[in-house]
Amino acid sequence: MKPIRVMSVFGTRPEAIKMAPLVKTLSEREGIESLCCVTAQHREMLDSVLEIFQITPDFDLNIMEPGQTLSTITTKCLLGLEKVFAEAKPDLVLVHGDTTTAFSSALAAFYSQIKIGHVEAGLRTYDKYSPFPEEMNRTLVGDLADLHFSPTAANRDNLAREGVTKGVFLTGNTVIDAMATTVRPDFRFPTEILNRLDYKGKTVIAVTCHRRENYGAPMEHIMTALRWIVETYPQVELVYPVHLSPVVRQAAGKFLSGHERIHLIDPIDVEEMHNLMARCSFVMTDSGGLQEEAPALGKPVLVLRRETERPEAVSAGTVKLAGTDEETVVTLASQLITDKAAYDAMAHAVNPYGDGHACRRIAEAVEYAFGLRTAVPEQFQA
Ligand code: UD1
Ligand code: UDP
Repeated sequence: MKPIRVMSVFGTRPEAIKMAPLVKTLSEREGIESLCCVTAQHREMLDSVLEIFQITPDFDLNIMEPGQTLSTITTKCLLGLEKVFAEAKPDLVLVHGDTTTAFSSALAAFYSQIKIGHVEAGLRTYDKYSPFPEEMNRTLVGDLADLHFSPTAANRDNLAREGVTKGVFLTGNTVIDAMATTVRPDFRFPTEILNRLDYKGKTVIAVTCHRRENYGAPMEHIMTALRWIVETYPQVELVYPVHLSPVVRQAAGKFLSGHERIHLIDPIDVEEMHNLMARCSFVMTDSGGLQEEAPALGKPVLVLRRETERPEAVSAGTVKLAGTDEETVVTLASQLITDKAAYDAMAHAVNPYGDGHACRRIAEAVEYAFGLRTAVPEQFQA
């Protein structure tokens, strides 16, 4: 029987981290021919992930430009993928999550009348502009997709409320699969400053902040709060690997540079990031991925956003929505720094997002959907 030709398409760091283990798994399945195309919406931050997971893409659109707009990303992906799909003729295109690469790749596959599988399907805030443009990106991918791989039961239920019940598989999140290979107690950081930090004696806070809807005033409030926290508590060491977006770099430079206990560093590779989180005291972030990873490592997270599409760890008590208001961010961080009971209440490992077998379930679901197996794939149970 002819193998199913499955092309995974991704372009940014988080998509790559979550798709890399899946690309590996697919390439090991007998009934599947696995192809990989990167749009390179991100360049350096994508390449770093490809290197760690030793993935050489079959196609690379190399679209990134400094200060790119959503329209340039979308049009370059559409035009590039039209050619790639015509040449490779995949039976199924897999896209991930909510980026503009994901949306435009799904649209390009639809235009070429190729089946679409959506990995990380069904996350919602129901606020069109927050996160922007991700909420609309993932909703539109949901409309275009034939197969939906939902990490959690709540994600699956969101799809059901929208009338999407066919082709939905509950799999867990592939990021938990990725963590199986990255976190190691004897890990030495290539970024030397991270080896020198006193993780036991000091309060090391790992920070990331990059979202478009936080550009401008919200980001300034967050960064003012972060600086206040470091200046107020001498035991705090703040590590912030700054995203390569010029908007983010300018804000971080303006509000956070020039303090000996604020470590503004370049983006670190995914192994470093996971091991930094495993060793730090807690995490402050507007990232989606970090909200899934830190709870698995037993680390409290303060989310620097007004909402989250990942309510599971909030319910489990390891994540709190801090918002972008300076006072609330300061209050919640101060609590974690000064109140051991409050810290302990949040610092327990929970795994609502996956059990490390999401990739296998997705591969089995693809085989099932294409008639290569008869058994309905087992579902993820939190
Ligand atoms: C994108 C995604 C966002 C995701 C984030 C992960 C969209 C609309 N946004 O946002 O959902 O959370 O990635 O990080 O899809 N840059 C580099 N080198 C890189 C990467 C970025 O120089 O390796 C710079 C470029 O100047 C680029 C800018 O960062 O133009 C912004 O990148 P872009 O992908 O447009 O937006 P992100 O904020 O990274
Ligand atoms: N990450 C990384 N290096 C960094 C910052 C983050 O490898 O310097 C990883 C992080 O562990 C997570 C992913 O990047 O797996 C999250 O990406 P990002 O925050 O850029 O995007 P989001 O998840 O918000 O879409």
